[in-house]
Amino acid sequence: MQHIILCGGSGTRLWPLSNRQTPKQLLPLFDGQSLLQLTWLRNRFACDSVVAIVNEQQADVVAEQLAGSGALSVSLIAEPVGRNTAAAIALAAFTTSPDTILLITPADHLIGTPDLYSHTILTAEKLAAAGHLVTIGLQPTYAETGYGYIQYADHDVVRFTEKPDAVTAAAMLESGDYLWNSGIFCGKAGVLLEQLSLHAPVIYAAAAVAAAAWLETGEIPLAVMEAIPSDSIDYAVLEKSDIVKVVPSAMEWSDVGGYEALAHALANHYRYSNHQAVFIGSDPVNSIVIGKDKLVALVGVENVVVVNTPDVLLILQKGNGQDVKQLHQWVKENR
Ligand code: GDD
Ligand code: MG
Repeated sequence: MQHIILCGGSGTRLWPLSNRQTPKQLLPLFDGQSLLQLTWLRNRFACDSVVAIVNEQQADVVAEQLAGSGALSVSLIAEPVGRNTAAAIALAAFTTSPDTILLITPADHLIGTPDLYSHTILTAEKLAAAGHLVTIGLQPTYAETGYGYIQYADHDVVRFTEKPDAVTAAAMLESGDYLWNSGIFCGKAGVLLEQLSLHAPVIYAAAAVAAAAWLETGEIPLAVMEAIPSDSIDYAVLEKSDIVKVVPSAMEWSDVGGYEALAHALANHYRYSNHQAVFIGSDPVNSIVIGKDKLVALVGVENVVVVNTPDVLLILQKGNGQDVKQLHQWVKENR
């Protein structure tokens, strides 16, 4: 398979650690590795090459990080501006041979159970070889509205619903018939393009022009990229296609969508210590200090995440992590 890494996100919910220059997937937080590097390392057992679809501003550091973690055959496709996942995936598919199976993964996920993950991916590869688009599904644990939901029976998809409202999400959780869409999927490049041309012909045609420019000149002109309608692969194809299969997986998965998830991962899966922090009458198990800019002293506080960077000190009561996006917006507009 060919590994396609979607690496265009900005990760505003992990501000001030992540920012435009260094989005969350590039932060070397996990025993010195970034989420991007962990992504490549966990997929290399099944893939002989890797293509990262990146914003052109991050192209150099992405190439450096992938080479640094041993990826020998790395290619990049640099987008002058992001046009969401349908466009990014189309670029990857147009620039490879139709029979190649693409394993498409976000760059910013953490997976705690490597063996289960590998097993899931090999099952997905078999279904992809038979001509399906295959997505990886996870047992939902709460009524998240930011994910896709897959009503399923064995490997069959009854219905795919991207980002339901809160009432629908609660009903789906309750019914027990649904999985979360992990955002990891695979399929032959040719099959992906055929489905895109069927369900999103305008994206297909505009992405074909951009891919041709890339192949010819190694560059995509801004106007050509901007001409691609911005939509996610989930809305553009997965919700509409009738050749989608799902592989349910019990793997431990997180999309590191906020500081609570990051704190949990660092505390439980990595040799992370609060080496620039002292705790007096505070619980060092439930609180975490991330970043080493200066010594942080905590007295009698519980359940906090402290983010200690040269420019900004963020102190967050756990449970409020989703408000960071708003906070970041406020700072951008007012400072
Ligand atoms: N290169 C590139 N260009 N990458 C992009 C772009 C783009 O324009 N837009 C998004 N990506 C990358 C992000 O960096 C991320 O790794 C991945 O594609 C998914 O995009 P998100 O924007 O994070 O999607 P989402 O979280 O709203 O929803 C998706 O993921 C959920 C699970 O985390 C969907 O697939 C949902 O169905 C799924 O449940
Ligand atoms: Mg996401």
